[in-house]
Amino acid sequence: MTPNFRNRTLYHGDNLDFLRGINSETIDLVATDPPFNKGRDFHATPDSLASGAKFHDRWSWEKDIEGEWIDQIKTDWPAVSEVIDVANHTWGEDMGAFLCYMGVRLMEMHRLLKPTGSLYLHCDQTAGAYLKMMLDAIFGQHNFRNEIIWAYTGPGNVKRWFPRKHDTLLFYARSDDAKFNRDAVRVPYKGESFTMGGSGSLTRANRQAGDYTTGREEQLAKGKIVEDYWTDIPSLSVSSERVGYPTQKPISLYRRIIDASSDPGDVVLDPFCGCATTLIAAEQAGRQWIGIDLWDEALDVVRTRVEAECQNLFGGAIVYAESPPKRTDDGVIAAPPLKTKKRGAVRPPEPGPVLPRDEMVALLLERQEGKCAGCNRKYDDPLIWEIDHITPRSDGGVNHHSNRCLLCPPCNRIKSNTLTLSGLQKENRKRGRMVSDD
Ligand SMILES: C[S@@+](CC[C@H](N)C(=O)[O-])C[C@H]1O[C@@H](n2cnc3c(N)ncnc32)[C@H](O)[C@@H]1O
Repeated sequence: MTPNFRNRTLYHGDNLDFLRGINSETIDLVATDPPFNKGRDFHATPDSLASGAKFHDRWSWEKDIEGEWIDQIKTDWPAVSEVIDVANHTWGEDMGAFLCYMGVRLMEMHRLLKPTGSLYLHCDQTAGAYLKMMLDAIFGQHNFRNEIIWAYTGPGNVKRWFPRKHDTLLFYARSDDAKFNRDAVRVPYKGESFTMGGSGSLTRANRQAGDYTTGREEQLAKGKIVEDYWTDIPSLSVSSERVGYPTQKPISLYRRIIDASSDPGDVVLDPFCGCATTLIAAEQAGRQWIGIDLWDEALDVVRTRVEAECQNLFGGAIVYAESPPKRTDDGVIAAPPLKTKKRGAVRPPEPGPVLPRDEMVALLLERQEGKCAGCNRKYDDPLIWEIDHITPRSDGGVNHHSNRCLLCPPCNRIKSNTLTLSGLQKENRKRGRMVSDD
């Protein structure tokens, strides 16, 4: 696919609009560090370069979630909708809302990745388990690669549990063809017992020559592939790299990810790029990059940092954009592959363009003569309608409008993912909710 963006672009705004505007399969690596659902807002240190920067990390269904996202998730990724339901019930509604917010964005990131691409999602123990389930639903559990633990030390004064001193990076491949440059992420052996194997074994020629050192020395010199726990990258609490941006991460952390899962010249995307750590790491590694952030008051600081760190390396101009790119692909593969019940398998996309919400609502309202398909009630407010499936997706129902209906919110809750439309009507008759046809 042809990219519809320029290298070294910083997009300013809500990343969903920008992600939706980028052509499919144009990105080699998404490495990103979104909010974690910490239930608070983050502010930059007052006397730092980034003073005034802040971002919001508390979530509610009422304030943060759009009905259209719920429709899209239910339509395209029913398993994601189930993960959200689980989080609503087991953790609470803030987690459900956070996952809905992340879900629509992760679905787009998946669409943007080339088959050789990968995603690294930075999270912590707060939402990590739920995000893992969500990524299993979107990428397929067979494309899960690692849960990387980034461990660090720092002050802590907890009394009732162990100090929480690690973050988690969930690493998923887009397909079996995803790049992985293991030789680019070797680290020195350090005092651990060392056994040779694989490509480091002594060759027959070494043995015949009585040379029992070469293979071992070569292997030692090459170093080992770093394990899935990273203890050698300190956090930024006392580093000169710090610009004071809340939750800023070390460049070396993102450099390792970029080296492992992309090649020089590849395109790296960070849709929650904060003070541009991933982008600077990408520039240093000779990759192309694009970054997106909301940045309230921090835009100037981030521009200053990117210009200082990146322009020195390439000497050219950085592109700043406030409006999303326009897609120049045909848009049809926006319908993502859906998981079937068969473990790990992926159902091919359904043919034909996906109708935008407004068009779908208008078409169904006309067909249903303005009434809810579940209870026959008429509603004047066009915004109340929830689009649902007549035969649920879990029973093989397709996305085509012939299998769609409009429900009022109470009916949609009763129907859930389990009842068919006729099952819902039967249930409404039993409950005395059904309005007569005349
Ligand atoms: C954890 S911080 C990223 C920090 C970054 N890794 C760094 O080293 O600076 C998360 C970022 O996501 C941004 N953000 C949150 N929601 C966003 C959205 N919908 N679109 C774009 N950026 C968003 C926040 O402004 C914040 O800068």
